[in-house]
Amino acid sequence: MGRVGVCGSLNMDVFGYVERLPHPGETLRGRSLLYAPGGKGANQAVAAARAGADVSFAGARGRDGFGETLVESLRRDGIDVTALEPVNGPTGVALILVEESGENQIVVISGANDRVRGPAPGDNVSIWVTQAEIPVEAVVATLETARASGATALVNPAPAGRLPADLVARFDIVVVNESELEALGGQRAPVTVLTLGAAGARLLPDGPVLPALPAQAVDTTGAGDALVGVMAAGLAEGMPVERALRFGMAAASLAVESTGCQPAMPPRDRIDARVAAAR
Ligand code: RIB
Repeated sequence: MGRVGVCGSLNMDVFGYVERLPHPGETLRGRSLLYAPGGKGANQAVAAARAGADVSFAGARGRDGFGETLVESLRRDGIDVTALEPVNGPTGVALILVEESGENQIVVISGANDRVRGPAPGDNVSIWVTQAEIPVEAVVATLETARASGATALVNPAPAGRLPADLVARFDIVVVNESELEALGGQRAPVTVLTLGAAGARLLPDGPVLPALPAQAVDTTGAGDALVGVMAAGLAEGMPVERALRFGMAAASLAVESTGCQPAMPPRDRIDARVAAAR
């Protein structure tokens, strides 16, 4: 089985759960608070590791309490953090409000994520995964590392509009939602997956809609990261693309049933059970 390499962001997520999102200038009483490990890159690494992949993570963190906590958390999931560099400045933080309907609002204070450099070629990495919460140069370097070692290169250009469309189209696999697809302006990678939230996902240009698996959603934050990380784990295991996508979709349907991002990433046995139940 190949290894999954992830180059991406690492944040402490500070969640406030509210009945409804506030209007500008409005003060509301929240229902509960949750500090939880997050960041799109780290979420995808954890999702892949819990799905059974051997994972290494390249990124940056501050020399502060959040940085220590987040590194320890990745280690507990068995992730190789040798390429997670301590840098001067604060660890990334995301302020996330989630309302009862599941709708959210996120503000990311990037901190150390702005200092991420590309990964060095990793032993036995068969698929490199990256996103758009790190500098463009680090995304380019991840692609170059994949090319230099013959690995597959997967990009999830989230948040939308941060990466040049022609860079995204140079990857082997792109996973986008509708706004990220629009930002590509018609450019595609050889494999382009369009995620449709509660409606499911499809392989562009002409794959059928694969319906989302039924779920009791309480918090959809990080669902896309569950799909990407677990799909990458499936590809590293040798699954064909559509099967790996369904594997990732099963994980996303489980992730929305719990609060937080990394705490909600499901273990392999639960993903397999949900795939089996959907047959
Ligand atoms: O995709 C969800 C993630 O986006 C959160 O963990 C938060 O840190 C932001 O980066």
